[in-house]
Amino acid sequence: MQEASTKKIYDVQSLIYDYTFGRLVTKRIGRAISHMKIQPGETVLDIGVGTGNSMPFYPPHAKVIGVDLSSGMLREARKKAEDCRYDHVTLFQGNALEMPFEDSSFDHIFISHVISVVSQPEMLVREAQRVARHGARIVILNHFLSTNRFMAMLEKWANPICQKIGWRSDLALADLVAKTQIEIDYRYKLRSIDIWETVVTTNTKSALAMA
Ligand SMILES: C[S@@+](CC[C@H](N)C(=O)[O-])C[C@H]1O[C@@H](n2cnc3c(N)ncnc32)[C@H](O)[C@@H]1O
Repeated sequence: MQEASTKKIYDVQSLIYDYTFGRLVTKRIGRAISHMKIQPGETVLDIGVGTGNSMPFYPPHAKVIGVDLSSGMLREARKKAEDCRYDHVTLFQGNALEMPFEDSSFDHIFISHVISVVSQPEMLVREAQRVARHGARIVILNHFLSTNRFMAMLEKWANPICQKIGWRSDLALADLVAKTQIEIDYRYKLRSIDIWETVVTTNTKSALAMA
């Protein structure tokens, strides 16, 4: 997938996102953000913030920046931010693979259902590692290729269809870890049978140097 086509897909999806996929993921987004343990005054970067379903879960004492490629998705997020007066959230349009932030700018990074949407997942993780301070939490919520051989076969088979609607179903967490050296603290699923997983990591700048 390329960013130009992804942008078009999500501009269209923005019209239905909150009635479809967005409905399924809100609970797990809230749970994942609770694992960041955001302290007063801390900064959070929400990469691929989409329609802003994460915004209600950020404490007002945090300073949150949400970035997204799609103007359509951002339009929906801006409506929510205005209606609910999320004054602690700033939204802007940009490409997460080349973000205009200085190194070590953020205390927490949230990457929710975006890793398997961008053209270069490992580049996205490296950008997150760069803009996060040393020791920051980087929380990734996503679908990863199943370790069950039969399920993995189905997911690989479904991949061309998934790509048409804006994500890939064949991204393996083990590959991502090998390419980026991210240090996983723990990972969990909300239910025992669940296709989405939350991966909680701590940013180590040495990982960035090795990757
Ligand atoms: C499946 S949606 C997830 C939205 C939200 N994070 C959530 O969990 O509901 C994927 C989002 O990633 C955004 N996105 C895809 N590629 C991106 C990129 N290179 N830079 C910034 N945002 C991107 C899309 O526009 C879309 O809003």
